[in-house]
Order: sequence, then C-alpha cells, then structure tokens
Amino acid sequence: MTLVNELESLVPDLAKGLDQASSLEVLEELRIDFLGRKGRLAQIMGRLPELAPEERPVVGKTANAVKESLNNLFDQRKAALEDAREAEKLSRFDPSMPGRMPKVGSLHPVTQVMDEICQVFKGLGYDIVTGPEVENDYHNFEALNMPPEHPARDMQDTLYVTENILLRTHTSPLQVRTMKERKPPVAAIAPGKVYRRDSDLTHTPMFHQIEGFMVDRNVSMADLRGTLTSFLQQVFGKNTKVRFRPSFFPFTEPSAEVDISCCICGGEGYKDGAPCRVCKTTGWVEILGCGMIDPEVFKSVGYDPEEYSGFAFGLGVERVTMLKYGIGDLRMFFENDVRFLRQFA
Ligand code: PHE
Repeated sequence: MTLVNELESLVPDLAKGLDQASSLEVLEELRIDFLGRKGRLAQIMGRLPELAPEERPVVGKTANAVKESLNNLFDQRKAALEDAREAEKLSRFDPSMPGRMPKVGSLHPVTQVMDEICQVFKGLGYDIVTGPEVENDYHNFEALNMPPEHPARDMQDTLYVTENILLRTHTSPLQVRTMKERKPPVAAIAPGKVYRRDSDLTHTPMFHQIEGFMVDRNVSMADLRGTLTSFLQQVFGKNTKVRFRPSFFPFTEPSAEVDISCCICGGEGYKDGAPCRVCKTTGWVEILGCGMIDPEVFKSVGYDPEEYSGFAFGLGVERVTMLKYGIGDLRMFFENDVRFLRQFA
C-alpha cells in the first residue's frame, strides 16, 4: 500500500469511528488518535523521508487534503453532538415549575413612622425641610438662645468636629435655617438624624428627630395644643389622651413636655393584671418637647417678635416607634435582625 493510499484510507476510517462516537469525550479521543502530534496522520507523514524526492510533493498534497477532510468531519460531528447534548438538557427543563420568589425588602420601622408623621403634617399644610447633620455652633446653639457660656449646652452631650463645627444634637437648627430663608407665615417640619455623646440601654449616639414649627400673626399656645393633639391622635389612635406639663427649653417660652396616655395599657397602668412595663403603672408616657418660640430666636432670624409669634416641638422617632409598636429594646432598631424587621413589611 502506498503512502497515498494509506493517507486516503484515513478518511473512511475516521468516518466510521465518528459514527460510533456517542459523546464529546470519545470524539476528543478520536481527534488525538487521528490528528494528534503522534497520531496516525503524523506517523504516516513521518515516513515521508523514505520516499524518492520527486514523489514527496504528491504525497504532501494528499496529506493536506486528507487533513482538511478529517478536520471537517470532526467539526460536523462535534456540532451534531453538541446540539444533541443541548436538546437533552432542554428536554429535562420543566418550564411549568414554579419560580423562586425574589426576597423583597421593606422600609425600616423608624423610616415608616417618620414617613407617617411627615404625612400627617403634610395634611395639615406643613412643608418638609432638611438641613446638614454636620452643623455649626451658631445654628445648633447660639441662634437658639444658647450663647457660649449658657448652662443649657451641658444638657447636650455634643460630638464636636472642631471647636465650631459639630454633629447637630437636635433638629432645632432647622427652625433657624428655615426662618432665615422665609418670611411668615411659615409652617414646616424637619425630619432627620441627630447625634449625642450618649450610649446605653435607652440611648444611642445617633437617633432620629422630627422638628415642627409654625410662625404667623396671633399663633397661640392653643394652636400648639390643638395641632399636637390632632397629630398624636392620628398616630396613636383617636382615644389617646394628651396632657401638657411645664418644662424648660432655652429656645421656647413658655415650654412644655407632652405626655400621652400609655398606648400599651390604654392608660390603665396595668395590663392583664400585671404592672405595665412601658408607663411603669403611671398610665402616661412622655412623647415630645415643645413651646412658644422664644423672642430671642425671632431676633436672631430677623423676625419682629412684636408682630409674630409661633410654636415649635421636637420628638424622637425611635421613641414614638417603640411606643406605637410596644417595642421594649432600642437596640432592635440598629441590629438589623431580619426576623425583627420582617414584622414591619
Ligand atoms: N430640641 C429639643 C430637644 O432635642 C426638643 C424641642 C424642640 C423642644 C422644639 C422645644 C421645641 O430636646
């Protein structure tokens, strides 16, 4: 058998082998056997030197043609086997199988309550305003009638950035910023984060407040009382009782703290025969601070205290959320345990 014959017989040999090859793995073995570096084609070519020089070009040409045929046969069979494999996979795919539901998150309870409170005040015609969390001494203290040596500054355990720059300790700077920008009548609420150097079971260094204020001619304490009562009854239920206790803030005069009847025990002081742990049997819980805006504050924002009066209040959103849902531990809000958070979805 001449080398040319041997070469040409490789094609039908491979064709036969390919017919029987049932997988891509067997196919690869065949490829190595025929076309590999030490494969059949290479072995035949290795005998080229045995030939007379004038015979070599004919054999070489045949070898190239055979090589191309072999490659084509491989490619065809390979494509067919790949198609078959794909078809087999698809035949096992069940398009009627129910899908996996994506996990959908929800708003944090504090965010939800903050939104709800903003919604109530929007309904009363208030604008929502925001301002910087990194504040200066002037807006956080001085313009709010707390000059540098004022003892009330001690009440706020402040986180200072520099001597003059601090993390705001309350949302009250928004009273100053908003009044400076606008002329009365003004009615706005300011939700946001505030910071204090305080960390224990009932205090976190960051928490949320909502400030509310309104300034116009003839605004009175009765307006404050009516507004807060309406608001608190919308958030805690229409049977909620509201009471005002005298208090002190440098930026309001007179000032008051507001209590609501305990929404856990309904103001009874006892629940299911046991002392109520939320109001400690008093039937009341403190909910916010408020008062009539001090004339000194009006002076620092350029309002005439003879012409205008107004009220302001500030409340802690975590506290409202705890009371509203009977949550006993402040830390729950910051641990982000999904078993807790899911209950508010
Ligand atoms: N800013 C006060 C605080 O953080 C709350 C307050 C706001 C009191 C507005 C009166 C008026 O404690």
